[in-house]
Amino acid sequence: MRKDFPLFQTHLDFVRPFWEKILDQEGSVIDATLGNGKDALFLYRLIRKNQSDAKLYAFDIQDLALEKAKEHFDSEEPGWLEESVVFFKASHDRFEDFQFNHPVVLIVYNLGFLPGGDKLKTTMRKTTLDSLESALSLIAPGGMVSLTCYPGHEEGAEEEKAVYEFLKICPKDTFSITRHEFVNRLKAPVVYFIQKKCQKAPDSTT
Ligand SMILES: C[S@@+](CC[C@H](N)C(=O)[O-])C[C@H]1O[C@@H](n2cnc3c(N)ncnc32)[C@H](O)[C@@H]1O
Repeated sequence: MRKDFPLFQTHLDFVRPFWEKILDQEGSVIDATLGNGKDALFLYRLIRKNQSDAKLYAFDIQDLALEKAKEHFDSEEPGWLEESVVFFKASHDRFEDFQFNHPVVLIVYNLGFLPGGDKLKTTMRKTTLDSLESALSLIAPGGMVSLTCYPGHEEGAEEEKAVYEFLKICPKDTFSITRHEFVNRLKAPVVYFIQKKCQKAPDSTT
């Protein structure tokens, strides 16, 4: 419960309503930075609401993250359906090595390092940009990529700049892209949303 600023106190207040909206439709989700599994559990609950066989695919390069995330699922959602969640110990720049069921309608990044873990095992601009490039081709028409950057540490600041430079030249006919930040808080997280254009409805007159 956020008592002081219930509308927008953290970046979660921005991202979660968009995740909820996009997951009103059926489709699979990728959590590209699993970490402690908090975002993943929120996303899992959203896909389960649709009662479909869509899945949550979660990537992290650290065993510790996979362990912590599974513990988080076990303690907060006992009986969670293992068949709905696929954990990959792999870097998120390797999406093309894996198969995903259903169209992937949402890809979520929460960049940086594992809270409480080794700060050197952080996301890096090269792999982030490579991953983002494959995410933009993988995401289904109408789907979105949600990316939270943390410019409060050195690599995070460089990474945020690189993400901005990459996104600002993406074709506007195919992607609608926004950037959100707290303007009166130094080094606060920056959120990007990228929506891919919807497919045209087939022309019923021909
Ligand atoms: C800020 S944490 C994510 C927090 C998480 N979303 C949560 O709800 O707890 C960032 C995570 O990204 C992971 N990471 C770093 N480089 C990665 C990469 N190339 N591919 C996938 N995950 C990576 C880190 O190990 C760390 O666990």
